[in-house]
Amino acid sequence: MLTLRRKEDFGEAFRTTVSHTKMHKTLQVPAPGSLGPVTPEEARLLEKLDLTRLPRHVAVIMDGNGRWAQKRHLPRIAGHRSGTQSARTTIETCARLKIEALTLYAFSVENWRRPKAEIDFLMQLLREYLRKEMPLIQKNEIRMRFLGRIDELPPGVQKDVREAMEKTAGNQGMVLCVALNYGGRAEIVDAMNAILEERNGHGPAERISEEQLARYLYTEGLPDPDLLIRTSGEMRVSNFLLWQIAYAEIFVTETLWPDFNRARLLEALLEFQKRERRYGGIREGEAVLEKPARAASH
Ligand code: FPP
Repeated sequence: MLTLRRKEDFGEAFRTTVSHTKMHKTLQVPAPGSLGPVTPEEARLLEKLDLTRLPRHVAVIMDGNGRWAQKRHLPRIAGHRSGTQSARTTIETCARLKIEALTLYAFSVENWRRPKAEIDFLMQLLREYLRKEMPLIQKNEIRMRFLGRIDELPPGVQKDVREAMEKTAGNQGMVLCVALNYGGRAEIVDAMNAILEERNGHGPAERISEEQLARYLYTEGLPDPDLLIRTSGEMRVSNFLLWQIAYAEIFVTETLWPDFNRARLLEALLEFQKRERRYGGIREGEAVLEKPARAASH
């Protein structure tokens, strides 16, 4: 496998990666055949994809399971069950493409408002998923993390979550984060409280820096997502990774989550590669002729 040093090889393009991320991590570039057999459609998309310029971290809001089921006159839970297949495909494809981190939004702090039967089903589905998919996770060297208020989950789920993290802790491949009982605002509040607790009223009342806050987020040590995918067409971020998606490219597709297959994922990656990322700066090579306007860049 070909390996590149990210900072040196991509130079300016990665210049503004948020400073708390690990700038010198070796970038692994997948071999062209790493996805195994592909359909003609996938092959056409793969041909256009630059395997040396993939996002480091992909985050996904998996939406539309209910609508998928409704369209087929099925109960909502059938949509969730079918959604696990899309999760499987996305996880395996990202791991094989050597993407560093993938975060899937599985259950939000707001999802407790759903009917109890649906919540119970989702929790069971996750437990079943962890049990069934562990061989695939291990085979692909995936390290699992869970983002959210895990200690508020039912005891059985907490146990499975801890076991999944322990079993995969030594893996060296992609980090798979499952956001579970997750809320972006809750995460920032948790980080602030952890900092306050650590200070415990002692020491100088120093200001909190962005870097320090980031170290207390659930995603500590991971690069911020470069690409946020949302399925089923809603133009919202739904309290997902509010801090971390500050500069993420957002890709919204009308495809409902259970229909999100490998070709749709490759399309999202291709769209990402078409975007020009400026992090609030200006295009590379563009001369600064005038004084920049105050806070004009987004
Ligand atoms: C949103 O669809 C989806 C969820 C709240 C649950 C996502 C969970 C899975 C895909 C199951 C497995 C996941 C993993 C990681 C194993 P929705 O119900 O809000 O759909 P709707 O907007 O059409 O009603």
